[in-house]
Amino acid sequence: MFNKLKSEKITNETDIQLDNVPKHIAIIMDGNGRWAKKRGLPRVAGHREGMNTVRRTVRQANRYGVEALTLYAFSTENWKRPKTEVEFLMRLPERFLTKELPELMEQNVTVRVTGEIDKLPEYTRRAVENAVIETAGNDGLILNFALNYGSRAEMVQGIQSICQEVKDGNLLIDDIDESLFQSHLMTHDLKDPDLLIRTSGEIRLSNFMLWQLAYSEFWFTEVLWPDFKEEDFQKAIAVYQTRQRRYGGV
Ligand code: IPE
Ligand code: IPE
Ligand code: MG
Repeated sequence: MFNKLKSEKITNETDIQLDNVPKHIAIIMDGNGRWAKKRGLPRVAGHREGMNTVRRTVRQANRYGVEALTLYAFSTENWKRPKTEVEFLMRLPERFLTKELPELMEQNVTVRVTGEIDKLPEYTRRAVENAVIETAGNDGLILNFALNYGSRAEMVQGIQSICQEVKDGNLLIDDIDESLFQSHLMTHDLKDPDLLIRTSGEIRLSNFMLWQLAYSEFWFTEVLWPDFKEEDFQKAIAVYQTRQRRYGGV
């Protein structure tokens, strides 16, 4: 089992200190396909069910006063999947946002997207861009979808744009530091995640926010994303609250 370190035994899982909630939580939502397979259903049925978990999780994050929730929805490597599955996944933002937009507005949520969205099909891009515009005036939870996102591609792009500025004479090589590099990433206006959650028992990052997660706390669970319930999210936060973040200090 995971997260069974002695120091992480939570006596009362409902005991969340609301003054120490992670400000930015990132989730690698994994296990939809296996959830469906276990039930003899096509993989896409797992993706459909996973949307309900997204809805639940957004509400809960909002209740806790989380500032930003980043959800890894589609990686730059997920294009390798069968065409029908990719097509289904590309329809999900439209389906989710059309249905959920009124509630997201009511909850004062700001929708954001991180990833190469110009490479998405027109209908996918339009759905997310529309949600971003519609919710731009809200100032509650930032719901950030990592869509066609890959951390290595993001960093390469950042390096290219820095090189361009140097070439144009607007920047000196000596000006390049961590903060400048960070400002050239797609996530430049978000704080680094405090907590990373990955479901489905995989213990890897799969090209997700390699730079941004340098000092994040990680929490893994075997629970498959469609089965991820409020108590699981609560547990992740409760475990986070037992961690001591040192950032290299003492
Ligand atoms: C996560 O579930 C959703 C996406 C990656 C889009 P998966 O589809 O990866 O499910 P498994 O890992 O095959 O069970
Ligand atoms: C990571 O899950 C990507 C998303 C959750 C969107 P994958 O299922 O694609 O990762 P691997 O292939 O198991 O590493
Ligand atoms: Mg997977």
